[in-house]
Amino acid sequence: MNILIIGEGGRESAILQKIYNSKNNTNIFIAPGNGGTDNYATKINIKSDNITQLASFALENKIDLTIVGPEIPLSLGIVDYFQSKGLKIFGPSKNASRIEGSKSFAKNLMKEFNIPTAKYKIFNDVNLAMKYIQTLDTFPIVVKADGLAAGKGVYIVNNLDEAINSIKDLMDNQVFGNSGKTIVIEEYINGKEFSVFAFTDGVEIKALLSACDYKKAYDNDEGPNTGGMGSYSPAPEFTETNKEYIVSKIIKPTLKGLEQKESKFVGVLYCGLILTTKGIYVIEFNCRLGDPETQVVIPTLNCDLIELIESCLGKTNFKFIKPKIENKAVGVVLSSNGYPYKYAIDKKISINNTYNKDNSYIFHAGTKIYNGNLVTSGGRVLTVVGTGNSINQARNLAYKLCDNVNFENKFYRKDIAKNIED
Ligand code: AMP
Ligand code: GLY
Repeated sequence: MNILIIGEGGRESAILQKIYNSKNNTNIFIAPGNGGTDNYATKINIKSDNITQLASFALENKIDLTIVGPEIPLSLGIVDYFQSKGLKIFGPSKNASRIEGSKSFAKNLMKEFNIPTAKYKIFNDVNLAMKYIQTLDTFPIVVKADGLAAGKGVYIVNNLDEAINSIKDLMDNQVFGNSGKTIVIEEYINGKEFSVFAFTDGVEIKALLSACDYKKAYDNDEGPNTGGMGSYSPAPEFTETNKEYIVSKIIKPTLKGLEQKESKFVGVLYCGLILTTKGIYVIEFNCRLGDPETQVVIPTLNCDLIELIESCLGKTNFKFIKPKIENKAVGVVLSSNGYPYKYAIDKKISINNTYNKDNSYIFHAGTKIYNGNLVTSGGRVLTVVGTGNSINQARNLAYKLCDNVNFENKFYRKDIAKNIED
C-alpha cells in the first residue's frame, strides 16, 4: 500500500512511526518531512500547502491513501482537491475545516446546536468592536482573530486599554493579515484545560483519546506562549462521566451540526475543552490532531492506524477503539534555547539509539540532514516520549530519554506531567 503523509513536525513523525509499524505492508512517502523521517519513509520535497503539486505526486506514484497533519492544507481545501482527482485522503473538507479556520463559524455552530461555550460577540467593524468593549465592566475578556493564526491570535486582556490595543492589532494593524478582519470577543472562562480527539467518519466516533499540553515556555507555566513544550495522555479530567457528557453534549451535536451545514466532518475532531465548576465548555475546535499531543496519544493507540483511518473513510466495519487504559504517555519537547523568540539553528544533534523501543519514542520536528549530519533547523527540535502503566513511570522514562539526545543549547521544561494524579 502506498501512503503519503503530509507535514513536517513532531505530529507527523508520530503518525509516520505508527504507520511504519502497521501490519499492512506499506511503502511510505512524506512531504516535506524532517531530518528523522528518512529511516521510515521517502522524503518528498513539496511543501504541505502546495496542493496541486502534492496531488500530481500522488497520482504519478499511485498513492493509495494520503494522511494530512497540519491545518493549513485542510483549510485550503486539499481534501476536496484530492477527491476531485479520485485520490483517497484522510481529513475534513474545506467546508468542514471551518470548525478551526473560522472561529465565528465554530461559535455560531455551537450556539445553534446548544454546545456549551463562552458567551461571545462577532465583529467585522472596528468601530463597533471599540464601542462594544467600552460597555464592558468585568475583565479579563478574550479577543480572538477569526482565522488561522498559528495559535497566536488569542488575546486575554485585563483592562480596557489592553482590549483596545488587541482590537487595533487585529483589525487596524492586521498583524495576522486577513485572519483578523473579523474578530470574536468572548467571556473569559477559568478552569483546567484538556483536549479530546475524536476519529470520526462524520457520524460515528471510531476512537476517542485525550491529552493535556503545556503551552508556556518555562516551568510553572511561566514565560511566553509556544507551540507546545510537552504533553501527557490520558487527561485525568477524561473520566467516564465526563466522557459521556463530551460525547453526547459536545461531539455528537457538533458532528450533526456540521453535517446539516453541508460540512460533514471526516477526520480527527480536536476538542479543546475546559473543566470549570459549572461544567465542561468548548474553548476551541481544531480540524486535525494536535502537536505535541499526537506524540503522546498515538503511542497509546492499541490498534492499527491504517485500519482506523480506513474505517473513518467508510471502508471497513471497524468498532470503537478503546486505547489500553493501562497505557499512559508523557512527552517532553526538546527545544533550542531562546525559542519561541530568537534561537540558533544548524547545531549538530547526536542521538543514543540504545533505548527500549517498546516504551520509549523519539520524534523529530525541527531537524534536517545537512552535509550528511543531523542538525537543528527549528525551535522545537524533537519530542521524547515515555509510556507505561502510570504517568509517573512514563514521565521517568521520558526524562531519562532527554539525556539520549544532545545538541548545543538544548532546552526543555522539567515539570511536564509533574504532580499529575494517575
Ligand atoms: P484558542 O486558540 O481559541 O484555543 O485559544 C488559545 C488559548 O487561549 C486556549 O488554549 C486558552 O488557554 C486561552 N483561551 C481561549 N479562549 C478562552 C476563554 N474563553 N477563556 C479563557 N481562556 C481562553
Ligand atoms: N497543541 C495545540 C495544537 O496543536 O493546536
